[in-house]
Amino acid sequence: MKNSNPSPLKKLLLITGIVVIGITALQFRDAPVVNPPVTAEVQLPDDVKAIIERACYDCHSNLTEIAWFDKIPGASQLVAKDVTEARSRLNFSEWDKNPPAVQQLLLWEVVNAIAEDKMPLHNYRLLHPGATVSAAELDILKKYVNTLSGRHKIDTARIIRNNQPELSAAIRKVPVSLNGIPYAADYKTWKVISATDKYDGGSMRVVYGNDIMVKAIKEHTLPFPDGAKIVKAVWGKQREDQDGNVLPGNFQNVQIMIKDSKKYQSTEGWGFAKFDGLALKPFGKTAAYANTCINCHRMLVPESDFVFNIPTK
Ligand code: HEC
Ligand code: HEC
Repeated sequence: MKNSNPSPLKKLLLITGIVVIGITALQFRDAPVVNPPVTAEVQLPDDVKAIIERACYDCHSNLTEIAWFDKIPGASQLVAKDVTEARSRLNFSEWDKNPPAVQQLLLWEVVNAIAEDKMPLHNYRLLHPGATVSAAELDILKKYVNTLSGRHKIDTARIIRNNQPELSAAIRKVPVSLNGIPYAADYKTWKVISATDKYDGGSMRVVYGNDIMVKAIKEHTLPFPDGAKIVKAVWGKQREDQDGNVLPGNFQNVQIMIKDSKKYQSTEGWGFAKFDGLALKPFGKTAAYANTCINCHRMLVPESDFVFNIPTK
């Protein structure tokens, strides 16, 4: 009679095999986050830096301490997604990828994100109670950011956020430009390409690009590919409140350029739209308004596919 039970040696091999496969699988499961090289570390005073390193670096830098993934069994994919997303928005290890004006804007955002209790992410704080930023630390950050520029004060970003046309009761349905381009608020989730004041009127503008646009700018792809979109949002003259904070003025308009080389052939492949005021009134009397847009862009920046805001290295 043949014994159908495997020998002790076979059993041992089998168990070893399963353990090896298990460990390998675990490593695959827990290794989706890599730390790319630090290309340009943000320069901050020591006390400010220490707070940000402790509370934000696991997600917003290339110095993620991978160990914290182990605390969330099976959730590493999810965490990896957070880290990828967080780095794409704000990465203290690749700081020079942002133009100087954007660096300042991001530092205000940092303070606002903490003040509004959005950051560090709540789930993360549950696992890392030590990452919470105290009121005293927030004060240190605020004081520092307030030294960055004479004209901007800390609440600018929040005021911009709260001073958006979509929040206005006057808008019941999505406005569409005379040449058929609908207003879409999602540009605010795009990457900021540049943000500046106009020194004359004291107005402020922020230029956003969608993924296709940002990638093309990064890779110096000209002309821009179809699907590229760039938006400029403009706020009016700044004013000062009773505490001496300089506040941006009211929302003025949103200007949109969408690349579709066939559809917008007559205007160099760019579809132009502009929506005015908190009511987002479509600009122009006839669809021919787009000619006035391209005429100026054509005259001034023909060499960069008619786009002004291409940050130079
Ligand atoms: C556990 C990961 C994690 C930690 C830690 C973390 N963040 Fe974030 N952060 C994210 C993610 C994910 C996003 C993008 C999604 C969102 O906005 O919720 C984000 C977005 C942001 C944004 C918005 C950027 C933009 O594009 O508008 C700011 C500002 C920010 N974080 C600041 C901070 C600061 C400051 C800290 C430390 C005090 C911090 N974060 C800590 C994950 C994290
Ligand atoms: C008198 C010249 C002129 C006219 C007319 C004009 N623009 Fe511009 N536009 C500019 C300049 C200069 C900039 C860059 C400066 C800035 O960002 O404020 C710009 C920037 C832009 C941007 C940001 C992308 C980029 O090129 O940097 C968009 C979007 C835009 N304009 C849309 C429009 C639309 C839509 C119209 C028509 C309703 C229009 N423009 C008419 C001069 C003009």
